[in-house]
Amino acid sequence: MESSLPLVLTRDGNGPLHLQLAEQFRAAIRDGRLQAGHRLPSTRDLARELSVSRSVAQAAYDQLHAEGWIAGRTGSGTYVADVVPLQPVLRTAARPPTPAGPVLLTLRPGIPYISPTVDAGWRRAWREVSGQAPPGGYEDVAGLPELRDALVEHVRRVRGIACGTENLMITEGTSHGLRLLLSVTRRPGDKIAVEDPGYTAAALTAKQFGLEVVDVGVDEDGLQVSDLGTDLSAVYVTPSHQYPLGGRLPVARRNELIRWARRTGATLIEDDYDSEFRYDVAPLPALAQLDLDRVVHLGTLSKVLSPALRLGWLVASPEVVNQLAAYREQVGDWPGWPMQAAFLAMLRDGYLDQVIRRSKRLYADRRNHTCAVLAPYGQIVGQDAGLHITLLLPPATDDQAVAAAARAAGVEVAPLSDYRRTIPGPPGLVIGYATPTDANFHQALTILCDVLRTT
Ligand SMILES: Cc1ncc(COP(=O)(O)O)c(C=O)c1O
Repeated sequence: MESSLPLVLTRDGNGPLHLQLAEQFRAAIRDGRLQAGHRLPSTRDLARELSVSRSVAQAAYDQLHAEGWIAGRTGSGTYVADVVPLQPVLRTAARPPTPAGPVLLTLRPGIPYISPTVDAGWRRAWREVSGQAPPGGYEDVAGLPELRDALVEHVRRVRGIACGTENLMITEGTSHGLRLLLSVTRRPGDKIAVEDPGYTAAALTAKQFGLEVVDVGVDEDGLQVSDLGTDLSAVYVTPSHQYPLGGRLPVARRNELIRWARRTGATLIEDDYDSEFRYDVAPLPALAQLDLDRVVHLGTLSKVLSPALRLGWLVASPEVVNQLAAYREQVGDWPGWPMQAAFLAMLRDGYLDQVIRRSKRLYADRRNHTCAVLAPYGQIVGQDAGLHITLLLPPATDDQAVAAAARAAGVEVAPLSDYRRTIPGPPGLVIGYATPTDANFHQALTILCDVLRTT
């Protein structure tokens, strides 16, 4: 008896013969050419038909049998099993259309300068990691213990936070830290205050977790603490460099905020996103330094090295850290070992400090140049720290239209109105000066000035 199929086996790199044979039977059953109950040739007939050894035919049938495509026993014949054919649906990603228009020079805020060449410190850290075997097991859900110890020293030295390892856990960045915190601590009906204008992702995340977002205004010093109600369970705040207007929350307001939190029992979520870069006087210690019972502090590597690394840290009371760690253990949500190990090597080696020092020099020059060039077009705010400035434009200006004109001219900037939710305020542009190469930076500023002159 013959197979009645056009079976073709090749010996030129298409894999073992028995697997080729099995796949051809599978395909025929899948597409209905072989129906349930159809009798297949014996291994002897099949081997003869294909001029292969009988063991090839037998191995193919064994495979199909094990997968459930065929049934029957030696002696009583082999049949196609009762498998209702199911056409697989293959969905390959549609290739996104190539955007038309000029290649954009980016002055968008939020991304540091990333050198296209790899330096020695980076290489040293990864060499150290590549020489270690990965740890086994599912321990260290709060993060690599040695990294937590090293970060305790780092946040003490750089941000003035006196804490212990039990206060600190490793995250995949600020947004991950916020999601983690909200996953564990939110309760139905919770209200969270978020600066307006502010970090859009924070408001969005809070909404996604079912919290009611209360917009709170910001002035040149940052969050307007006196506007906070008493029914809030949390406040998301950027005290070291308000995002995006750039105010630094003064000591009196920090104390007022802590007193308010102690009175109301609310949690202050401190986003310390770009505190490493301060150009006038030393940064104020973090808010977390004042009260770890009320403050959860979120730090990130995103502005220092790259957002692509997805690494950050969270500092809170031991109770909160334990609660988050227990949740992580249940859901399996913590950063991978290689990046943590590399970061540890970078901290120990002094590489992180070196990058911060180097970047600070570059950003200070960039900031000075940006301010000098853009001063004629509006009021510059937030220039004392970080990776961006905000240019406030005359009141009647449509900042979306200015950003669109800049884009059409080849430069990406963020309109300030993108960061506003319900509280009105002047229009403006949020201009990141860190990301481009020197040549692109100067070219982008020249184009932007042309746009500002003509819109
Ligand atoms: C205000 C603010 N906080 C934090 C971050 C960083 O978030 P992540 O650490 O998740 O990259 C950003 C990035 O754009 C930001 O603008």
